[in-house]
Amino acid sequence: MKEKKILCIVTGGIAAYKAAFLVRLLKQRGALVRVVMSKAATEFVTPLTFEVLSGNPVSWDLFAPRDEPGVEHVELATWAERIIVAPATADFISKSAHGAADDLASTVIAAARCPVYLAPAMNAGMWENPAVKRNVALLEGDGRRFVEPGSGELACGKTGPGRMAEPEEIVGALERSFAPGNLDGVRVLVTAGRTEEDIDLVRYISNRSSGRMGFAIARAAREMGASVSLVYGPVDVPVPEVDSAKSVRTSAEMKRAVTMAFPRCNLLIMAAAVADFMPAGKNPGKMKRGVKGIELELRPTPDILASVSGKKKKDQIVVGFALEEKGGEEKAREKIRKKGCDYMVLNVISETTGFVATTNRVTLFKGNRKVLETGLVSKVEAASMILDKISSDTRLKRKPKRVVRE
Ligand code: CTP
Repeated sequence: MKEKKILCIVTGGIAAYKAAFLVRLLKQRGALVRVVMSKAATEFVTPLTFEVLSGNPVSWDLFAPRDEPGVEHVELATWAERIIVAPATADFISKSAHGAADDLASTVIAAARCPVYLAPAMNAGMWENPAVKRNVALLEGDGRRFVEPGSGELACGKTGPGRMAEPEEIVGALERSFAPGNLDGVRVLVTAGRTEEDIDLVRYISNRSSGRMGFAIARAAREMGASVSLVYGPVDVPVPEVDSAKSVRTSAEMKRAVTMAFPRCNLLIMAAAVADFMPAGKNPGKMKRGVKGIELELRPTPDILASVSGKKKKDQIVVGFALEEKGGEEKAREKIRKKGCDYMVLNVISETTGFVATTNRVTLFKGNRKVLETGLVSKVEAASMILDKISSDTRLKRKPKRVVRE
């Protein structure tokens, strides 16, 4: 973190006291730190605390008279290499998701061009409120990153999710974001979301995959310098900005799109939750309810991962995802053998991990070897950790850099 320019935005929640530890930790790691507070944050901790800890003046008033000329919010947004909002209240998350700019803190975010991290802190009920979830999804869609709150005792006396991540964890996320763009020149193909297999004209079989994990992988790969193609089925979250994106619906459509794009990619990450079964027969109309019920014959969908792994060239790397119930390590290892891919990311189904959650705990296998265990982190963090590991562990083929001769 030496000499890295970090702007901390402190908004008005009780966790503002933890931001003091965050600033201290950043300074200890050698970062240059400036602090902006919301008006509400000054009710919890005084600006003087942050001035002393950061060694810089602290601003909170958009219209305060200044000694130097220039527009403060633009100057701060341009100065920063990373912005961290800690704590990020539900109100601030809502304002930033909608582009509001009515105080210094929100105006800096609106003007920011550097990566912005948010560490939410709020009551469990608020964190689970659908409006907050929508706003978080909007910000994630805009490429903002979240350092997920932990579960534990909250200021309101209740226990649950909403507690701001510990300062060490936030510093860790910022540190990782400065790791060199180690996917420079790599062409990455990512699949995400679920597939839908038609039963008849109006009904289908599918699963609860939200698309979060695959999209987090696509976004992280792009931030690490890769050129990213995305093939995605139905999802619940906004599609990230990538180099090319193809929307599909059924496993057959996904297979076609992946098979077409695969020969041009250096790294394939099959994060999509392809439905395992499809109805055997065709029902072109809308089936009638009947009185006795119906029997549905299902057959397996084409295994896309196994099919492309069988065609991969020596310099192509293929990664699969396995979603298992507890103790799925052996199954993940077996899937690598069965499907012929290089790596397998194991996720376990639980309340905080798997399809619907915004957090995940993954284990990465290479052949028989366990090469990474992430612990419980946000899906965004898990994505960066997976890609970091794969890129440092493998010699990925890259598009050669153009040499300009004078
Ligand atoms: N996969 C695929 N095509 C399918 C099913 C799965 O390409 N028809 C891929 C997924 O994208 C994932 C990996 O295979 O990367 C593992 O998926 P998973 O559903 O865990 O494995 P299955 O082979 O379907 O085994 P299971 O019986 O455990 O569902």
